[in-house]
Amino acid sequence: MNSLMQGGSEGVRRFPDGFIWGVGTSSYQIEGAVSAEGRGPSIWDTFTHTPGRINRGDTGDIACDSYNRLEDDVRLLSDLGVDAYRFSVSWPRVLPTGSGAINQPGLDYYRRLVEALNESGIRPVLTVYHWDLPQALEDRGGWANRDTAKRLGELAAVLADALGDQVSTWVTINEPLQTVQQGYRTGTHAPGLADLELAAAATHHILLGHGYALQALRAALPSAAIGPAMDPQPFVALDAAVEHVALALDAEYNRVYMDPVFRGSYPADLDGDLRPPEALILDGDMELISAPIDFFGLNYYRPHHLRSGDWDDLRDGERPVAGHPGAVYYVAPEIQCTVMGWPIVPNGLRDLLIRLHEESRGLPVYITENGCAADDYLTPEGTIDDQERVDYIHGHLLAVLQALDAGVQVAGYFHWSLMDNFEWAEGYRRRFGLHYVDFGTGRRIPKRSAHFYGRVARTGELPSSPAALDGEPQAEALPEASAAV
Ligand code: FCB
Repeated sequence: MNSLMQGGSEGVRRFPDGFIWGVGTSSYQIEGAVSAEGRGPSIWDTFTHTPGRINRGDTGDIACDSYNRLEDDVRLLSDLGVDAYRFSVSWPRVLPTGSGAINQPGLDYYRRLVEALNESGIRPVLTVYHWDLPQALEDRGGWANRDTAKRLGELAAVLADALGDQVSTWVTINEPLQTVQQGYRTGTHAPGLADLELAAAATHHILLGHGYALQALRAALPSAAIGPAMDPQPFVALDAAVEHVALALDAEYNRVYMDPVFRGSYPADLDGDLRPPEALILDGDMELISAPIDFFGLNYYRPHHLRSGDWDDLRDGERPVAGHPGAVYYVAPEIQCTVMGWPIVPNGLRDLLIRLHEESRGLPVYITENGCAADDYLTPEGTIDDQERVDYIHGHLLAVLQALDAGVQVAGYFHWSLMDNFEWAEGYRRRFGLHYVDFGTGRRIPKRSAHFYGRVARTGELPSSPAALDGEPQAEALPEASAAV
């Protein structure tokens, strides 16, 4: 009898054989070493060094120092017991000016990483673009410039050539919505612009970047599995009067990215200001963007609930929906939120998986991100008792099981994140990791959630309750010596 089943196997659920258990990170959030060995500057270096942009003025200059701790991090993954590791490549580490000359030491770092992963039996899942655009490309217009999309294809070709024998699963782009929304509409992320015209252009070009990267990878690696990672946001109308608002927001935030990939066209009901101008959509673009993919990468954190509400008399839990007077975002008092203020609604993941299954006509889905920030702290005993993260994982994995029961081809789950890291505009105050990072020394310490998730990953079984592993010893921290800066 499996140890998880001791004390009553009732309710223990098994995931399908071959289900992939992973964790994720991204280059700028963990690597640090921003000027090491020929790396060029990225838009995130510029943005974080601009006063007032990031909470407390934090930067990714050092982050988790993963550039210098490759072996430690692979050991962390191996101790955790996951099947796969999703990481991203820092574009300016490989192509310092975004195009042309290759920085060999940068490429060698990723070569060492993927080799070490494979040697440890961990499948590398490589994201080509997770937001750290070379500053040199931004200086020429960034994603508002069509050429940036072509340059992403160039990067993908370089990576396929150098790493293709070691990497069989590729994610082209991460969350085009956030690139456009926070990078070009609200300006809360690099490059920090707030310009609708640029945003509409960036929408088309980031999708085109996916298309060019897909084309390059496909040509070089015919048997690789390739797909984008997107973060469709569920908009749920709680009353009939706001159903049209939910539909409009769905076009604005979700279908504008999914329809081109699944159907080769932009949604007909997309607001004119957000629609990429016809002049930017050249012959062949939509074919490139909608070329066949092998999986859809779904990043899910939370849904948005909407109801009718008076903007002049907002009640507890309400926030106006910009552009839609009479509609408010609403969080019901019984719904718990994470420290990010994000409502915890596992059913949102189940529903989204079912929707994707229908829209993509049965394409396999990897949950490429899912996780929560919490106010984690180290106890005097040296443990981090993040029971809320254990609960979050348990609830969301139950939702995945429900989607599997409903016939959705969920191929794997990647928890965000392997370790606490630089959480963009929030800096280091938001901890999303299964491992606690002491940013002073760089030391990584497994949290209770690492213990829980590792057990699920190794056994493929979800215990009936998130408390089922209570009382078991916490995993050992890495010895101080091997983790010292
Ligand atoms: C997603 C990002 C990822 C991480 C999580 C919390 O939007 O893709 O890098 O910051 O949010």
